[in-house]
Amino acid sequence: MRIGSIINGEEYKEETRETMTANNPYNGEAVVDLALAKEEDLNKAIDNCYDTFHRTTKKMPAHERADILLKASELMGERLDDFAETITKEAGKPLQFSRAEVKRSMQVLRFAAEEAKHIQGDVIPMDAAIGGADRLGFTKRVPLGVVAAITPFNFPLNLTLHKIAPAIAAGNTIVLKPAEKTPLSAYKLVRLLHESGLPKGALNLVLGTGKEIGDPLVKHDKVHKVTFTGSLPVGKQIRKNAGFKKVTLELGSNSPNILFEDADLAYAIPSLVKGSFAFSGQVCISAQRIYVHQNIYERFLKEFVRQTESLTIGDPMNEETDFGPMINEDEAKRAKTWIDDAVNHGANVETGGEQEGTMLQPTIMTNVKSDMKIIAEEVFAPIVSVIPFTSENQVIQKSNDSTYGLQAGVFTQDIDRAFRVADQLEMGGVWINEISTYRQDNHPYGGVKQSGIGREGVKYALEDMTELKFYGIKRNS
Ligand code: SIN
Repeated sequence: MRIGSIINGEEYKEETRETMTANNPYNGEAVVDLALAKEEDLNKAIDNCYDTFHRTTKKMPAHERADILLKASELMGERLDDFAETITKEAGKPLQFSRAEVKRSMQVLRFAAEEAKHIQGDVIPMDAAIGGADRLGFTKRVPLGVVAAITPFNFPLNLTLHKIAPAIAAGNTIVLKPAEKTPLSAYKLVRLLHESGLPKGALNLVLGTGKEIGDPLVKHDKVHKVTFTGSLPVGKQIRKNAGFKKVTLELGSNSPNILFEDADLAYAIPSLVKGSFAFSGQVCISAQRIYVHQNIYERFLKEFVRQTESLTIGDPMNEETDFGPMINEDEAKRAKTWIDDAVNHGANVETGGEQEGTMLQPTIMTNVKSDMKIIAEEVFAPIVSVIPFTSENQVIQKSNDSTYGLQAGVFTQDIDRAFRVADQLEMGGVWINEISTYRQDNHPYGGVKQSGIGREGVKYALEDMTELKFYGIKRNS
């Protein structure tokens, strides 16, 4: 299959174009050839979005925007299997997780349809200021214009929708640049939204690399907002290139999960196995550091290793598979060197640690130190470290000893302690008696420190997809 950029509904995939191939991470088979966009295509896509915004979407009533989003959700439900298989083929995500991703995506579309109808402003108490008694003031939330959405490989459908569904709900237009490794989910999504009634020029797809397409997209004068999920170095570059544009950055994490002595281990252990190894740890909020009170450390570790070793590893297209490949061999090798480096500095591998091709075994490490890469940096791989602690203050300090702060999990039956700890964790979000990896699509999601800027979660993303505009009226008689 060959796909190209889609601009105003027209596809650009001539044979003469430079081409990249996206391969199935599990078996290496070609999934799709991408005909790459050139800078002139990008400019055309942005101009078309800009014109469509001014001609059409900024004037489109909320109920029409909501209907398009609802229709898209329905159509996606009809194509659930196809979308799930597409994600599994291009990303290597086990089918059960791909299916869950499609269901979440349908819900994100529904949330966006609801939010489209509740974009509200305020009436300002103008008479609170001296001289304001004869004035009426109110605000409206108005759309921004062209939004640049740059999306990652790990949730190629749902994280794309977390950007474009709120943008559509607000009345913006979007130029979408998906990850080169997983372009097919995005391609099918764009087609589906057009079929659902979205004006063709309201959503354009451009295929290409970050350097060739991403950089000029971010810098372009007709783009009003950039929303990106991905790595910290790219996020920093985007922040620099974006100038005065609004920017949402959803970057990395090395999420801590804390188990106090009274934690419900029967619940926490299987949840943490899932939260550490789902999609081979390639999730921003994957459990990376598990701090366990010393009195339950041995018991936890033994059972955690046992349950990890019982994961079904193999072909992600198989319904029973829990654990499949990483996105490519380079990433698997990179993660393996981090394991080896930690071992060379005294860490132990409790299980896993071996890599072949794109497969890196689910790996549990102990005896780790805070300056090892597997602790200090985002591993984005199936590697989790288990670390004992002795006191509440110590574990808070260890958890916060990070340049990241996205989401954390705290397990305890003591509600006072739960809130005390949650209050002190430097994170965008804290779960109590739930893993850091759990995310619901309607809560605010985003980080502090170097985990990012801004929030997603449809309602919160939508706020940042609008500008607050003030209107004032003076009564003269
Ligand atoms: C992420 O990797 O940032 C997204 C996690 C999720 O949506 O579940």
